[in-house]
Amino acid sequence: MASTPSTRFCAITFFHNPRAKFALSRTQTSFSAIHRPIDVATAETASFVAQYVPPGASLIEIGCGAGDVTLALQHAGYSVTAIDADRDAVQLARAKGIHSILGEWPEVSVAPVDAIVFTRSLHHVRNLKRAIQAAYRIVVGPRRLLIEDFDFVSVDGETVDWLSKKVGHGLKTNVLRTDADQFAIRIANASDPLAAWFGNHDEDLHNIDQILAALVPEFVVNDFSIVPYLFRYLIPIMFETQTAATWLRQVAEEERAKHRAGQLKLIGRRIVATASTTKT
Ligand SMILES: C[S@@+](CC[C@H](N)C(=O)[O-])C[C@H]1O[C@@H](n2cnc3c(N)ncnc32)[C@H](O)[C@@H]1O
Repeated sequence: MASTPSTRFCAITFFHNPRAKFALSRTQTSFSAIHRPIDVATAETASFVAQYVPPGASLIEIGCGAGDVTLALQHAGYSVTAIDADRDAVQLARAKGIHSILGEWPEVSVAPVDAIVFTRSLHHVRNLKRAIQAAYRIVVGPRRLLIEDFDFVSVDGETVDWLSKKVGHGLKTNVLRTDADQFAIRIANASDPLAAWFGNHDEDLHNIDQILAALVPEFVVNDFSIVPYLFRYLIPIMFETQTAATWLRQVAEEERAKHRAGQLKLIGRRIVATASTTKT
């Protein structure tokens, strides 16, 4: 059972899928403006959406938070209905000009759309099964469900040590702020970073296996990928500068390269599913 969304926070991915379904030329151009660290993460998520749903489609983004992904998708030509259960997050999104609906999915009434996007929000929802059933009822057309989430427990010691070293480097080069309350700093300051990682784990949140299991029988999973995610934990402690953004992009690239070399685990997860036509 997940707890109240407003008490939760998560940071933000990096990915190349050779099986991309749609031409990316337009969206890549739209997402290429990287001025702040958050833009690195947002561009990755928006590119993921663009690989599976063509610009111009209608989307619901559930758990839009402060609306950065929503804004990038709108700029890329999607018609996005943004929903979040947290009043402060909705206000932040509205301040960006986004029409964000305050409400807790699935207790929100919305018009049918081509696709539904959950970015780092599905692990929070109280009733996973009901959330998926409601998503099934609302999708028409391509009937896609896109989920970007993470598998917190799939790290190992090397992975957490790498993140700690990145924090150390970022502090030394003044792209990161010291903020003892933030997850990445707590991990980096710990004498045993792996123990600190698991000590900061919230068991109430749904894990990726529970999310996958909840999709059946409403959705058929078409694609499941493992992507960089650790770099997202740095964003809450980053200065909002171009230098910091450039560094974060390098960190995300290094995360992927190290995984390819077998030197760390990736915890980001992406699920692409299509509404089942055989559901009884
Ligand atoms: C970790 S944040 C992710 C925000 C944004 N999608 C991003 O990737 O930056 C999770 C968000 O999901 C929202 N949320 C959680 N459960 C929800 C629900 N059942 N309905 C609507 N929003 C929900 C929370 O309020 C929070 O803003």
